[in-house]
Amino acid sequence: MSIYGQYEDDLTTVLTDVEEKIRQLNQTTVADHQPKLYEHLIGRVKDPASMVEKCQRKNYPVTTEAALRRCHDAVGVRLVCNFISDISRCRAELARAPWCTIVKEKDYITNAKPNGYRSYHLILDVVEPFADVTGANPGHFFVEIQLRTIAMDSWASLEHELKYKHDIKNPERIGRELKRCADQLASCDVQMQTIRQLIQEG
Ligand code: GTP
Ligand code: MG
Repeated sequence: MSIYGQYEDDLTTVLTDVEEKIRQLNQTTVADHQPKLYEHLIGRVKDPASMVEKCQRKNYPVTTEAALRRCHDAVGVRLVCNFISDISRCRAELARAPWCTIVKEKDYITNAKPNGYRSYHLILDVVEPFADVTGANPGHFFVEIQLRTIAMDSWASLEHELKYKHDIKNPERIGRELKRCADQLASCDVQMQTIRQLIQEG
């Protein structure tokens, strides 16, 4: 049994449900002749070993309870958007959606992390027709949503890749260069947004 205990399969169900509901939001938007909400979507159930590591790092007990209630990212969905303005459109659609409640938000776009990381994070409370770890039925499950542009996503995935190389000779220099890339990409995002506006205004 993994740290997710008897809820392991339920988490996959939650993920599939949320992905489907978000795809529906996008389809409705496009059917209404509006630009798509996001370019692509990628979801995952956090690997049980990573969840154990996270509980230990946060000094939580290594229990199903902690994994599903104290941690909020057992289920995660990333929406990668074309333009910065699409991020607030996605957020607005999720805020209106009857199947979820936003319980936490972190705006790492207005306030980028010192290393240059940018994204808009939401924690959703999603209701499902089966019991959760507290015994509630219908159950409540947390889902982490990451909203970011393609540029923010490329930076995050490259930085993530580099983080796992531990024998870096000059970490300060690398950090500075990464930060510079992040800021250049952010500037491109603003330029792209301007271009879109110019085209829309005709
Ligand atoms: P975790 O314990 O790592 O889940 O972080 P947290 O609970 O303090 O939340 P936070 O919003 O800071 O980060 C959640 C997720 O955002 C991480 O699991 C990553 O997927 C992503 N993230 C946050 N900071 C960075 C970063 O500096 N670089 C990259 N590549 N991803 C990041
Ligand atoms: Mg996380």
